[in-house]
Amino acid sequence: MSSSKKNKRNIRSSSIENSHKKNYIYTPYILFIIVFTIVNVYFTYFHTIDDSQEGIVAVYKSPTCECCNKWIKHLESNGFNVRAINEINMGKIKMDKGVPEKFKSCHTAVINGYVIEGHVPANDIIKLLNEKRNVVGLSVPDMPVGSPGMEGSRNDPYKVYEFDQVGNYKVINQY
Ligand code: CU
Ligand code: CU
Repeated sequence: MSSSKKNKRNIRSSSIENSHKKNYIYTPYILFIIVFTIVNVYFTYFHTIDDSQEGIVAVYKSPTCECCNKWIKHLESNGFNVRAINEINMGKIKMDKGVPEKFKSCHTAVINGYVIEGHVPANDIIKLLNEKRNVVGLSVPDMPVGSPGMEGSRNDPYKVYEFDQVGNYKVINQY
């Protein structure tokens, strides 16, 4: 009698132990999710990068963007000092930098306060830096085949735009 009671108690306590063990199995996953969320929120909303260093092109790009890396090589071979910044939330960067919807491309760069959006040829950037025009920046919208970093089997015609804060823009070059 007394031994069977003891057994029952043992069974109960071991099943409680088991359910505790099950919870422990999930602990690393829960911790991972919490840490991941904190890091994500930090990088999305609080992490700011100083891209105002004179003479250095800060290029925001998605970590997996190959044509962005090719455009960076194009800039470097034209004498630019480039700092590549991998960024997951490119939509937020484009909003922060004031890139109009119709001028959006893959990467967004900043040089001496100017915004350079997409596969803009180095010569057009050099000209802007020399002339110090009163604009927000330059853009080659989308990703035309044949533009610097987008070399391919054909050369599509494309335009380089400059745009300001209040929605004005004009074509400054075409290829
Ligand atoms: Cu691209
Ligand atoms: Cu790009």
